[in-house]
Amino acid sequence: MKEKERGSFKGSIGFVLAAAGSAVGLGNIWRFPYLAARDGGGLFLVVYLVLALTFGFTMLTAEVAIGRKTKKSPLSAYRQLKKSWGWIGFLSCLVPFLIMPYYCAIGGWVLKYFIVFLTGQGPVAAQDGFFGGFITGQMEPVIYMLIFLASCCVVVYVGVDKGIERSAKILMPILFLMVVGIAIFSLTVKSTGTDGKLVTGLDGLKVYMIPSLKGVGLKDFFYIVIDALTQLFYSLSIAMGIMIAYGSYVPDEANLAKSINQIEFFDTMVAFLAGVMIIPAVYVFMGPDGMSKGPSLMFVSLPKIFLAMGPAGNVIGTVFFAMVLFAAITSAVSILEAVVSSFIDELKLERKSATVLETVIAGIIGVVVCLGYNLLYFEVKFPNGTSGQILDVMDYVSNYILMPIVSIATCILIGWALKPKTVVEEVTKNGEKFGRQRLFEIMIRYIAPALTVIILMMSLGIL
Ligand code: PHE
Repeated sequence: MKEKERGSFKGSIGFVLAAAGSAVGLGNIWRFPYLAARDGGGLFLVVYLVLALTFGFTMLTAEVAIGRKTKKSPLSAYRQLKKSWGWIGFLSCLVPFLIMPYYCAIGGWVLKYFIVFLTGQGPVAAQDGFFGGFITGQMEPVIYMLIFLASCCVVVYVGVDKGIERSAKILMPILFLMVVGIAIFSLTVKSTGTDGKLVTGLDGLKVYMIPSLKGVGLKDFFYIVIDALTQLFYSLSIAMGIMIAYGSYVPDEANLAKSINQIEFFDTMVAFLAGVMIIPAVYVFMGPDGMSKGPSLMFVSLPKIFLAMGPAGNVIGTVFFAMVLFAAITSAVSILEAVVSSFIDELKLERKSATVLETVIAGIIGVVVCLGYNLLYFEVKFPNGTSGQILDVMDYVSNYILMPIVSIATCILIGWALKPKTVVEEVTKNGEKFGRQRLFEIMIRYIAPALTVIILMMSLGIL
């Protein structure tokens, strides 16, 4: 297909913002701060940063370069690189296919909370049982999920530059400003504890930033590294075909190495600021042990904290959920695009029909996911000891099993079967400097696959 018909980003800024839009999502907001609070504050931050600059950078570079080199969607790109490796393409397209419906279900929850706060009903959301009551409903979660999905559909339907690039250029700067604004506000909050002592946001910031090595043995350190690694995987949207799809729309003249640095910087910055936004507020209003992760942090604890902030709380809550909504939309758009681009390449569909087809499929599976808390309720136990409903099953299969497999296979393909020069040549195509080239070569061949094998074994309960 000709370049023009395939679509492309207009420039590197558009690409960087769209890719950052994919990377910055619920993971930055509801998982990163929790892990940092649990894993020794500053110690986790340092470990995460080191891994982002080595492991994250390597995987991101490999995928974006594969995309731009082949100019193909994930489903076809691997086959084009090496025929017998086409199966990785299938798996890496299966990941976003599985993630889309449940990401939209959660996106629907965020939309609901945004509307609740916008209409001044924040205190209602802070009541015990509000979240549980909402997600176990039969109609409401389905309706919100469908509205969320439909908005992503519109963006992808319109196209790469007019839809994805343009929306990222508008939403991402606003998101960033909101994150900075709420983070500053969070540092100013204070309250008097039951012991009469005044606790301020700055006290919470210290807990977050200062590395605490107290009681951290070798084994704990190992778990901190694993936490940072799995977080990085999810946070950078790697191993799910997204960066290949987006990479395939990057103009040949763009400087890949520079763009990748910017994407990494953006994602890490927002994750860090999410910690500044959330940890001090939780610390002041709920004490040092108030942090929780996932849905319970965002939908149960934070509304209570916004209530405790007094009149300002409803405004801050509205801005907060608008920000999360933007983060979720730009991420969901990228998931949808990874599947749609594969449909376009493989099924030879037009963009519009491919988008409608995947939207309908995701909508149907999304309804099943929503009803997983109601009509279709069941509980499954996973090999790593946790348990959950339909949403968690899909999350487990995609994030804990398929993503590590795709990642290991990508490392072997690029590092050994094709050799790292495949990527190096793409990155330095116009004579650009590839600052961490040596690091990339060593990481993709040895360290990245080894680290990912550890993640896979832990997910399967072997380690
Ligand atoms: N990277 C996003 C985050 O940190 C999540 C995401 C997952 C995005 C799957 C796209 C696909 O939240």
